[in-house]
Amino acid sequence: MSEKNPPLVWLNGHTMPLSEARISVLDRGFLFGDGVYEVISVYDGKPFLLDEHLRRLERSMDAVRLGHPHDRDTWKQIIDQVVKANGNGEQSVYVQVTRGTAPLRDHKFPANPKPTVLVMASPGGPVSQDLVNDGIRAVILDDIRWEQCNVKSTMLLANVLLRQQALDAGAHEAILVRDGHLTEGAASNVFVVIGGVVVTPPNSDELLPGITRSFILGLCRDHGVSCAERGVSEDELRGAEEIWISSSRKEVLAVVNLDGNSVGTGKPGPVFTKVFQWFQEAKRAA
Ligand code: PDD
Repeated sequence: MSEKNPPLVWLNGHTMPLSEARISVLDRGFLFGDGVYEVISVYDGKPFLLDEHLRRLERSMDAVRLGHPHDRDTWKQIIDQVVKANGNGEQSVYVQVTRGTAPLRDHKFPANPKPTVLVMASPGGPVSQDLVNDGIRAVILDDIRWEQCNVKSTMLLANVLLRQQALDAGAHEAILVRDGHLTEGAASNVFVVIGGVVVTPPNSDELLPGITRSFILGLCRDHGVSCAERGVSEDELRGAEEIWISSSRKEVLAVVNLDGNSVGTGKPGPVFTKVFQWFQEAKRAA
């Protein structure tokens, strides 16, 4: 993928250059955010944790009452095709399924919905070494989202506003709290280290069950690091020895500054450094 070789996308059964991909203005994804999505990292031509992403896509579709347009094997074939068409290597694959178009804008479901399916690749590659080495800044913001944050919906206006508010404040990410406890980031899950224990809030409808989150928990457990999935109060968050965010695109990054105050020593901490290394080894071995 480059200016000379623009990305190829798969839209409703056809592969085409991104610049030629078109959907109707009556698509419910466009009108209502009536759709779900996934973002999958591709390392060396291989989609990472693909089964886990497809399982979550199925759960999201079920949650919003969208019929499954493809079975698991077909999804894999389509994604494989897109990855190959874009030259393998390091990519980020975006999958979106919407409730399709209806003859008129109307909130109610169309009588016979025909989902719109888009699979699109964008250049991947390693996360900036500066962000890994220096860590990122975050601010705490109130979680203003709906009560089904476990669904990976394309309806992301609150997340977009929260991320932008963080950027406007000179930070990279918003860390969200609801009723005095940590939920997640605007586009990431959050870990804290408290008394040497790696802690992250348990899965619930308040947060996305991140694929990277559960992979990191597995890595910690495999390496004998104590972990807990439990509620984290805002006070605990502010006093944590280390804070990290995780997502498919960012992998795992240390938060070194929270609301203008240093986290720990103000540098990525020792547990982060180990987990980051284990992550790099595991993704190459997968
Ligand atoms: N977002 N929480 C939210 C709200 C997210 O948007 C994301 C990822 C995560 C991390 O999930 P995972 O580890 O499965 O990527 C948690 C993607 C990358 C995005 O919207 O671009």
